Amino acid sequence: MAARPLARGMPMEAPRGTNDYGPEEMARRRAVEGILRETAQRFGFREIATPTLESLDLFTTKSGPGIVKELYAFKDKGGRDVALRPEFTASIVRFYLSELRNLPKPIKVYTVGSVFRYEEPQKGRHREFTQFNAEIIGAPALQGDAEIIALAIDCLRAVGVRDIQVRIGHIGLLRTYLRLAPEDQGKVLHSLDKRDFPALRRELKRLDLQDIEDPLRQFVELKGGIEIFAKAATALPGVRPQGFEYLTSLAARLQEYGVENVTFDLGVVRGLDYYTGMVFEVDSPNLGAEKQVMGGGAYTLAELFGGDPVPQTGFAFGLDRIVMAAEAEGVKLPAHRLDCFVIPIGDSAQKRGLEVLRDLRGAGVSTDIDLLARGPSKNLDYANALRARFAVLIGEAEVKKGLVAVKDLDSGKQEEMSLEALIERARGQRPRL
Ligand code: HAM
Repeated sequence: MAARPLARGMPMEAPRGTNDYGPEEMARRRAVEGILRETAQRFGFREIATPTLESLDLFTTKSGPGIVKELYAFKDKGGRDVALRPEFTASIVRFYLSELRNLPKPIKVYTVGSVFRYEEPQKGRHREFTQFNAEIIGAPALQGDAEIIALAIDCLRAVGVRDIQVRIGHIGLLRTYLRLAPEDQGKVLHSLDKRDFPALRRELKRLDLQDIEDPLRQFVELKGGIEIFAKAATALPGVRPQGFEYLTSLAARLQEYGVENVTFDLGVVRGLDYYTGMVFEVDSPNLGAEKQVMGGGAYTLAELFGGDPVPQTGFAFGLDRIVMAAEAEGVKLPAHRLDCFVIPIGDSAQKRGLEVLRDLRGAGVSTDIDLLARGPSKNLDYANALRARFAVLIGEAEVKKGLVAVKDLDSGKQEEMSLEALIERARGQRPRL
């Protein structure tokens, strides 16, 4: 059927970079979100929520130009500068400083929701997208980092995404080596993050540090096992060894978690300015340009916001990207299926149809009924389109016998049975796909 034109002036498309999600897609997204929630809870994380709208200052303080220039920021009707959150970490730290700090430590929390970034949309890169974010506040760095990395990897395993590259670096190595004023440091690190070497050269020239360009470039290209640390110390003479010792201990602790296939990558710089220690990213090589499904690391934002110097570590997954990674690997994501669709045939069956509907729903069986007074064959088409498991046909004969005719829509087999037998069958092993 041709789409009817909308009223004059009514926009036909969602705003650029935002998405509508239909029922099938929503089922897949919810399935993945549910798996991420369950996994975080299995690791002892508890859910929190923060507002979508925050004061602008929360993000201008320390998220870095990468985020700030991408903000949806505006004045509210009271003239206050506000912004739609571009991420969760700053909001969680704000919440920690105002209330959560009274909870016993370590505090392990997760949250899921929409975040907004005004960036150039493309496949896998949106202006409104969903993040699944986890944070640990108040655990010693090594213990917290190992736990957070193990959670991130288990989340992907639980969803069924296998083809991943986990890259772990340490931004503290570069920060303590550069020892620049925050703004200068930010510029050098951003050019390294983007591998924008002309910008790096310009920046280093301005700072009269041209001689470190080559060593820095060699350093950020180093990837591999713990053996790269010796090479890194040679590539960048003067870099402090503590970061390498830390990453070596982290590798050992991750092994105890059963996490083995990680790569150390000294080029993980991250686009956000608040990281101070371990930083990590997970890529799904099947996703093309926007292949990073997760990013995170250790930071001390609470202190920067005037609070205590508590260690913090966390990560965020892009939900759209995990769903895409799972689909690219052919993972069958569980989808909700309607159990029964009730089809009363003829006037005499209408009352009984509603009774059956009520009893099935009351027994916890998901059930829908014909609302359009269609004939049985149209209703069967509709039930099939909804991917219902059983069509429950009720005609005059079934009303008289006190039974229902049940058509299994997967096998096509039809049989008569009591309502109790149908409830038992529908509640039995439910196919999830
Ligand atoms: P982030 O790397 O900016 O980190 O974002 C995390 C993830 O969100 C990315 O790895 C990617 O999967 C997804 N993502 C980012 N931008 C987009 C976009 N425009 N469209 C779709 N997906 C996107 C953070 O946000 C940090 N707050 C993570 C963190 C938590 N660090 C410590 N705690």
